[in-house]
Amino acid sequence: MTQTELLHELEPVVAGELDRHHKVAKEWFPHEYIPWSEGRDFDGPYGGRAWEEGDSKLPEAARISLIVNLLTEDNLPSYHHEIATTFGRDGAWGTWVHRWTAEENRHGVAIRDYLTVTRAVDPVALERARMVHMEGGFQTEYTTMLGQLAYVSFQELATRIAHRNTGKASGEEGCERLLARIAADENLHMLFYRNLLNAAFELDPNQTMRAVTDVVTTFQMPGSTIEGFTRKAMIIANEGIYDLRLHLDDVLMPVLRQWSVFDKTGLDAEGEQAREELAAFLERTETTAARFVARREERRARMG
Ligand SMILES: [Fe+2]
Ligand SMILES: [Fe+2]
Repeated sequence: MTQTELLHELEPVVAGELDRHHKVAKEWFPHEYIPWSEGRDFDGPYGGRAWEEGDSKLPEAARISLIVNLLTEDNLPSYHHEIATTFGRDGAWGTWVHRWTAEENRHGVAIRDYLTVTRAVDPVALERARMVHMEGGFQTEYTTMLGQLAYVSFQELATRIAHRNTGKASGEEGCERLLARIAADENLHMLFYRNLLNAAFELDPNQTMRAVTDVVTTFQMPGSTIEGFTRKAMIIANEGIYDLRLHLDDVLMPVLRQWSVFDKTGLDAEGEQAREELAAFLERTETTAARFVARREERRARMG
């Protein structure tokens, strides 16, 4: 099947998923999640006090993770461009693209409000980082519709886990509540894409298997283009907010299981080849993840 045929064949599935999404998605209001009474004026025209290191009550890893999550959400215009280009702006696909964009937009709005009002991070550094990150844009690695569908299925679940665990690591009830609320949105996004890709498996199992394998074996977090990402990701992983163990156990495997990738029958030689590559990759990742956790535990034990 060509990409155009697949888009066309999946259109009714998109329409059905949209209906389901509208039924399960609950309306929520970012302003209710922000402790406005904690807010104070900053320097500048209002003549308040500039941010100082001691203002933040958050542990360092949670702070770094919040910045990464927020900068990731900030790049929404580029993500919108990528999915609108691939999925289109008409019909059910277009309705979803715009709905998804509207929902994602409140994530960045709410997290920024929270961080600014609670003085959790340096607002000057944050703004500069936002400018650099957004000026770099975001371009998907995956040029096919199936590749993009597979990517967003995993990426939405990855951001769900990252938000939820960041909230827990913050040690602040309000922060945890907000990030749990955002994580609930991400979960519904994941369900939408995961169900669509499931339908794609029915339509063209071999091409879909290839797309899934290509995405799993090359997956990068959407915020990977943030300046200093490698160092930040290491701190986040060491804290157990998001690491390879979680990526494999809580992101890759549950989605792959849901698609029954290892139980599918009737694949052609290319489809089987893709599945074998996938299985080999997962095995290697299991080894790397286990080694990472063992080293982290050793380090923690040494530090007492
Ligand atoms: Fe989001
Ligand atoms: Fe999302």
